[in-house]
Amino acid sequence: MAAINADLSVNGYTFEDIQTLAKEILKHTSLRPKIALICGTGLGGIAEVVENPITVPYESIPGFPVSTVEGHSGNFVFGTLGGKQVLLMRGRLHYYEGYPMWKVAMPVRVMKAMGIETLLLTNAAGGLNPKYNTGDLMIIKDHIDLPGLTGECVLIGKNDTRFGPRFIATNATYDHDLRSKFKQVVLELGYGNILQEGVYIMIGGPTFSSAAEARVLRMFGADAVGMSTVPESVVGRHSGMRIFGVSLISDMVDMEDGSKFLVTHEDVLKTANERALLMQKVFVKFIHLID
Ligand SMILES: *[C@@H]1O[C@H](CO)[C@@H](O)[C@H](O)[C@H]1NC(C)=O
Ligand SMILES: *[C@@H]1O[C@H](CO)[C@@H](O)[C@H](O)[C@H]1NC(C)=O
Repeated sequence: MAAINADLSVNGYTFEDIQTLAKEILKHTSLRPKIALICGTGLGGIAEVVENPITVPYESIPGFPVSTVEGHSGNFVFGTLGGKQVLLMRGRLHYYEGYPMWKVAMPVRVMKAMGIETLLLTNAAGGLNPKYNTGDLMIIKDHIDLPGLTGECVLIGKNDTRFGPRFIATNATYDHDLRSKFKQVVLELGYGNILQEGVYIMIGGPTFSSAAEARVLRMFGADAVGMSTVPESVVGRHSGMRIFGVSLISDMVDMEDGSKFLVTHEDVLKTANERALLMQKVFVKFIHLID
C-alpha cells in the first residue's frame, strides 16, 4: 500500500490518497454498494438490521481519521438492507472534534472512489419551527451552510477538478425523487403525523445555541439546527452524487430567555433511542425503493 502523507493544510488528502483509502477499505469485502448511509448521533442502530454485515473499523484503515464522540462508534459496515447492497458509516467526523472542515467530509470522497452514487444522511437536530415536536422526522429540503457563509466552506482549498468543479451550484441539492420516496414510506408505515419537511441549518458546535442565537437561526428561515450533514452533502453534490437527508428532531430548541429547560447530549441520545426501531423500519423500506 502506498503511504498516506496527509498534511494538515487544506485538502491534506490528495486524489491519489483518496483512491488508496478506497482500495484499502474494499479489500475487506466483495460487495460494491452504490448506496451509502451516514448515521447520525444515536442513529447507528440501523446497522443492526444490515444482513451479513462486514464491519471495517476506522482504526484498521491506515491514514483514516477516527471519530471520538459518544454515540458514534467509528466504523464502516457493508451488507444488504432492503435487498440492496449498502455501505453504512457509523460515527461521522465533526468539526467540533477539532477536524478542519475539509477533513470532516473526506469520507464522502472515499465513498465516491468506492463507487457510491447515492448518499443518505441522517442526524439528530434541534427543532426551531414552533410547529415541530420532539421525535419528529424532518426531510431536509434545503440547508443553510452557516460555517460556509462565514468562510469555512468545506470546499475551500486546492482546485483539483478530479474531485469536482471549482464553483458549484447548491440549489436543489436534496433530490426530489428520494424525498418523495421517503415520504411515501413514512406515510405507508402510518407515521405521517410525525413527518415534516424543512430547512436545516448547520452551526459549528459543540455549544448548543443560546436563546438569542436560536431566534436568529429561526429568523434566517431554518426549521432545525445541527452540527453536521452540510459538509457531507456539499462534498457529495460536488462529487456528483444524489443526496437525501433527514433530521430526527431530538429536542425543541429553547428561544425564551431564562427558561428552565436545557438540552443535553443525553436528551439527544434518548430521543434517538426511542426512534431507533422506527428508523430501522423506514430505512429498510426506503432503501428497497431506491434505484
Ligand atoms: C480549476 O482547474 C481546472 C482544471 O485544471 C481549470 O480548467 C479551471 O480553470 C480551474 N479553475 C479555477 C477557478 O482555478
Ligand atoms: C440549479 O439552477 C440552475 C440555474 O438556474 C439550473 O440550470 C439547474 O437545473 C438547477 N439544478 C437543479 C438540480 O435543479
